[in-house]
Amino acid sequence: MTQRSIAQLIQARAVREGAGVTVHRTIGTSGLQHFDPFLMLDHFGSDDPSQYIAGFPDHPHRGFVTLTYMLDGHMLHHDSMGNQGDLRSGAAQWMRAASGVIHSEMPQQTAGLMRGFQLWINLPATQKMSDPAYQEFAPERIPEVREAKRRVRVISGEYAGVHGPVDDPHTQVQYLDVNLDAGATFQSTLPTALRAFVYVFEGSAQTQGKDVPLHSLAILGDGDEFTVTAGAQGARFILVAGRPLGEPIVKHGPFVMNTPAEMERALDDYRIGRLVQKKASMRG
Ligand code: CO
Repeated sequence: MTQRSIAQLIQARAVREGAGVTVHRTIGTSGLQHFDPFLMLDHFGSDDPSQYIAGFPDHPHRGFVTLTYMLDGHMLHHDSMGNQGDLRSGAAQWMRAASGVIHSEMPQQTAGLMRGFQLWINLPATQKMSDPAYQEFAPERIPEVREAKRRVRVISGEYAGVHGPVDDPHTQVQYLDVNLDAGATFQSTLPTALRAFVYVFEGSAQTQGKDVPLHSLAILGDGDEFTVTAGAQGARFILVAGRPLGEPIVKHGPFVMNTPAEMERALDDYRIGRLVQKKASMRG
């Protein structure tokens, strides 16, 4: 077994998104434009309503998947497929925008903590113009593996023989929420074919003698095993891995295609109200 070590550390950058929501972005910044198959990672987290109350009113997506994981708070989702999502603390939502979706994500609270992640996962060229699809999982449907000094929620993929409910067929995304007590160690196999990162959102962690500070993303290098130890305050992080697509990426705002011509078409389609091609909801 070869241990994966940190290949690159990226500090989150504050960005205003939606109608004026502050998000902390790592993948999708000038320091790391994308990390195939991942296009963007936003961490939202604030107990100040002025940072999140405006939400994300109607906006389009084409060409990829959004995977939203709520840590705290309550968000309502509406989309052009006709889905009405109710995302509460601990819930997960996987939305394949593919050929086109218009949706809104609006906070349902006027006070308190709102915290979570949105990850954009690229689709292969053959799937970019496929029909959109939607999967949503309430908190109680996400299994938690409880071990001594460790709690691991399995959102997608597998840990300790437990499988998460989110099914991401094209990139086989593994998505774990790992919560470690002070000094506790976490170990997992991570197949060489998958690209992987860790984002620490509570406490701090150390791997192969290197620190992963709070609110930073660590790209993991080659290997097939990953071991991490929590600092004195414990650690909570997401560990995400996926199979790279190795295809050209043309990204413009909420659209991610393979060629400039496809991007032209996406922009034209949106301008003339033809972005949404499939209105009926389909499950993932
Ligand atoms: Co969106």
